[in-house]
Amino acid sequence: MCGIIGYTGKKNARKVLIDGLRKLEYRGYDSAGVSILHDGAITTVKSSGRIDALEEKIGGEVPGVTGVGHTRWATHGAPNDRNAHPHISGDGRFAIVHNGIIENYESLRAELSAGGVCFKSDTDSEVVACLLEQYYDGDFKSAVYKTVGRLEGSFALGIVCADCPDRLFAVKNMSPLIVGVGEGENYFASDVTAFIAHTRDIISLRDGDVAEITSGSVTVYGPDGEEVEPARSVVTWDVEAAEKGGFDHFMLKEIMEQPRALEATIKPRVKNGKIAPEGLDELDISKVSRIVIVACGSAYHAGVVGKYVIERLCRIPTTAELASEFRYSDPIIDENVLVIAISQSGETADTLAAMREAKSKGARVMSIVNVVGSSVANLSDNVLYTWAGPEIAVATTKGYTTQVAMLYMFAVWAAVRLGKITEARERELTQTIMTLPERVQRSIDLNPKIEEMSKKYHTYKTPFFIGRNFDYASCLEASLKLKEISYIHSEAYAAGELKHGTIALISPDELVIAYCCHEALYDKMMSNVKEVKARGARVLAVVKEGCERIMSEADDVIYVAETDPLFMALTQIVPMQLFAYYVAKENGCDIDKPKNLAKSVTVE
Ligand code: AGP
Repeated sequence: MCGIIGYTGKKNARKVLIDGLRKLEYRGYDSAGVSILHDGAITTVKSSGRIDALEEKIGGEVPGVTGVGHTRWATHGAPNDRNAHPHISGDGRFAIVHNGIIENYESLRAELSAGGVCFKSDTDSEVVACLLEQYYDGDFKSAVYKTVGRLEGSFALGIVCADCPDRLFAVKNMSPLIVGVGEGENYFASDVTAFIAHTRDIISLRDGDVAEITSGSVTVYGPDGEEVEPARSVVTWDVEAAEKGGFDHFMLKEIMEQPRALEATIKPRVKNGKIAPEGLDELDISKVSRIVIVACGSAYHAGVVGKYVIERLCRIPTTAELASEFRYSDPIIDENVLVIAISQSGETADTLAAMREAKSKGARVMSIVNVVGSSVANLSDNVLYTWAGPEIAVATTKGYTTQVAMLYMFAVWAAVRLGKITEARERELTQTIMTLPERVQRSIDLNPKIEEMSKKYHTYKTPFFIGRNFDYASCLEASLKLKEISYIHSEAYAAGELKHGTIALISPDELVIAYCCHEALYDKMMSNVKEVKARGARVLAVVKEGCERIMSEADDVIYVAETDPLFMALTQIVPMQLFAYYVAKENGCDIDKPKNLAKSVTVE
């Protein structure tokens, strides 16, 4: 997820663009750049790092009242000056900024390279600038339409042409983009925060729309190039609310973003109905005798889910270990062990130390990480990126579910290569993985019910989460979510452990949240629910749609959409993300920045 902005009017574009990019930094902040038109030439300055680094690099004044700007969250190509936007066509005539993923960029790069184009970056976005050059015959709009007609995937584009000093084009397709209408000046941006200080009068573009913007006019065309009447409105949000997309907290916004984050993570890895993750070419899975997953916090919980799925599909002994324990345990590791490090930030000190320990003993290290070019990514032999976009809330949600999805895809990819599943089963599982974003959306649609339920349960002091197998992994993550944002001391227990001590704690004023989604263990969980009910506990059960028997025992039931039993852990965590959010909100907690916590624990 990146932030893009464009401006044309009477103000100095440099200041408008830099100020706007600062408001968009929450969308991505690993590199940034601007391109400004003046006297028939485009001045472009790009820099890795935050907007401050860009502003320092720009230095003094830059003349010009038309330009585009970009703050990046890298997906293709490490975060550096070369890969920062705007990208410039070979003839220097076009500058473009892009938010999204051009899914067919490899074939376009090959076609353009064959035609003599020398690419200057490793990004997918640069193909847009090169196509514009190829199609331009003096007609800016025609070149835009011909270029867009070649693109597949999600893109919000901003384009300037040195031949047209007072004109911008903005293109929307599956990535956010809106137009701001001012007095003698106009804007486009990824969201209203970038220009809300100048105008609240906006034009909402639809997928396929192309906006031609001058200082005095905004003309919107449809996918066929015909002018259309756009929807205009006035934004009433304040700036802070706008950064959160109108949600009260980044955490809720990021919970709601999960279907899109999952799509961005899954879709590019499915080709011809099969899982085809990039970056695994030289990993010979047949030589792997054991897999060790190392991570911290929620990433560790994703690893526990991964352990169950990898063992179930690949029949390779797999363990999930806390990185902070692994690094000091003198682990039994050799060159036949694959270590998988999982990290949203890619900067967690314990995880990095565990990776170094594993490498020192000869292991191959693969990582599942959200930040391109992070320390974890740079230390890995293989990297599988989760393209969740920036995650601002300290409590991870989309970071966790995209990690789990990546583990599912890795397990299927490995299992078919090990001959443990047939190609038919591979296609079936791949098809199911493709439906997970929609299944997660159905869990998100429980939002009002969960909010209502949280009002009943937000006063319980020591809730227990119980479950078995995948459900136990969900208990671990659900319990952490509740602890870290509501400061309620909850515990996750393998339900089979209750009789070995924990049940002594169950009394009439205890809340037990029972995950009963694992089909094969449903009867066992029914017994556990009866055991705690017999001791007076209140039970909130999370079950698959259609499992009605639990109604006779539980006080409340949350039904989650069914999917393949192997993948239930991904969809069933969402109601508990929402539960933790609303309990914390009921209790007036600082949800996005919980006390004592940091988004990335870069120290021991
Ligand atoms: C989860 O909500 C917490 N923010 C925390 O447990 C986090 O998962 C852990 O610190 C690992 O962070 P990482 O994924 O960036 O390595």
